[in-house]
Amino acid sequence: MMEDKIKELMALRQQARLGGGEKRIASQHKKGKLTARERLDLLLDEGSFEEFDMFVCHRSIDFGLDKETYLSDGVVTGYGTIDGRLVYVFSQDFTVFGGSLSEMYAQKICKIMDKAIKVGAPVIGINDSGGARIQEGVKSLGGYADIFQRNILASGVVPQISAVFGPCAGGAVYSPALTDFIIMTKSTSYMFVTGPKVVKTVTGEEVTDEELGGAMIHGTKSGVTHFVADDEYEGISLIRKLLSYLPQNNLEDPPLSPCDDPIDRLEDSLNSIIPEVTTKPYDVKDVIHAVVDYNEFLEVARHYAPNIVTGFARFNGMPVGIVANQPNYLAGVLDINASRKAARFVRFCDSFNIPIVTFVDVPGFLPGTSQEYGGIIIHGAKLLFAYGEATVPKVTVILRKAYGGAYDVMSSKHLRGDINYAWPSAEIAVMGPKGAIEVLHHKELQLITDTEQRIKFLKDREEEYRKKFATPYVAAKYGYIDDVIEPRNTRFRVIRALQSLSTKKDSNPPKKHSNIPL
Ligand code: HXC
Repeated sequence: MMEDKIKELMALRQQARLGGGEKRIASQHKKGKLTARERLDLLLDEGSFEEFDMFVCHRSIDFGLDKETYLSDGVVTGYGTIDGRLVYVFSQDFTVFGGSLSEMYAQKICKIMDKAIKVGAPVIGINDSGGARIQEGVKSLGGYADIFQRNILASGVVPQISAVFGPCAGGAVYSPALTDFIIMTKSTSYMFVTGPKVVKTVTGEEVTDEELGGAMIHGTKSGVTHFVADDEYEGISLIRKLLSYLPQNNLEDPPLSPCDDPIDRLEDSLNSIIPEVTTKPYDVKDVIHAVVDYNEFLEVARHYAPNIVTGFARFNGMPVGIVANQPNYLAGVLDINASRKAARFVRFCDSFNIPIVTFVDVPGFLPGTSQEYGGIIIHGAKLLFAYGEATVPKVTVILRKAYGGAYDVMSSKHLRGDINYAWPSAEIAVMGPKGAIEVLHHKELQLITDTEQRIKFLKDREEEYRKKFATPYVAAKYGYIDDVIEPRNTRFRVIRALQSLSTKKDSNPPKKHSNIPL
């Protein structure tokens, strides 16, 4: 009878929905975590989830696993919509063998990834897993590698977002690492290649999960995670927000939103935001908030390398990626971490047709042995490479300092910057006045023994240098700057620039792929 068959179907579905059972669900909740399905309910538009492979079970027989099977086998997969736009999802179910990955589990993830690549829709993975399913051995390792391969093929084709809402350890960390963005939750998530026990055995170092791979560690020190959320609710709403700036795939433009924030809104505060004393800091985020639609800015990697700010915003409804030096932290200097952070962000934007708006106030690269030994040459080159390779519309505004190599790097005209503006406060030169005077007048300085005379000499030469070089007008004279603009009018000028570039076409020479200095 059909009725009985339908009843059986419903019962099986109900069984699958319970994952590892009520007790384990309660334990998950006790840890302050949601279940795999609860997470998807929150993430996707109501009623939009279509699940695949609910009836998949593992095929292991070793270690008594033939007697222990669970429908869905520890991962919930399928597709749904977010704000009406298609996404493919997988959500690891910690209540089934600790969310550990089996051969069949990996196949389920691969199936939705293959579909996402074919139809051109983002993939969102929610990670909460004890890693490779120990009982399955190498099959599980193979399953991971099958996923890695798809992460790699999908990279630059569809956006990939990883939420880490529980453990993510061992080689399992490399799937999130291969995706575009990682979101971790405070206190309930951690990521590490080897856990505290192995660390203690190998190095003698005693460290907790949180200290080794908690969200704040990866948010501040390693830069592995792009977002640190207070809890899963915030994490999920961040994913939804992030997607609102992104196109579905690399062949589409990012989605336009209706905008009634006037495009010619003048921001008088910007005319006085640059301090009189040029060494004094200010918060570049005040500039960003002032000029973008509704003052809304989604910052990416907020806690890592704060000397450079990266994130998404809109200009007249058009999503853009913003990169800005931050004078409030280390004077906005470019160092290894800032270069890596911004380079990856610029490349992401370029992969997905998101225009890049750059605000420049940079005294140069950070000098010193720790930077040189750490390879600032290679890492700084990453940012240079990323900007030079990017073919999306690039609009640059130099707010104050643009000194030395850092001038070139920060989306200069010479790296195919499309429209480059400067505020009247811009100082564009080979180096800052102090350094320049020391180099240019070192012979004269050696002859001045009187301290007062020396101070006066330095002050006069600095003044002379500042007047001559520390302005936007020398660069403007050569066309390296398209116009010097009034700060309060920046929003309007950037929007006009972006509008004029909306049909921009540019390309790089044909090649297999570039060889960015990794
Ligand atoms: C099979 C596992 C498992 C695993 C956990 N479980 N991890 N089953 N394979 N890897 C099971 C447990 O037996 C338990 O089953 C349930 O999941 C919950 O685990 P608990 O330990 O009770 O939970 P908790 O105390 O919260 O600790 C979670 C944990 C811990 C920290 C993740 O379970 C753990 O350390 N697991 C092993 C992690 C690990 O070493 N994985 C391999 C990493 S190497 P019951 O029946 O009691 O509910 C790796 C290589 C990948 O992943 C390489 C890819 C290239």
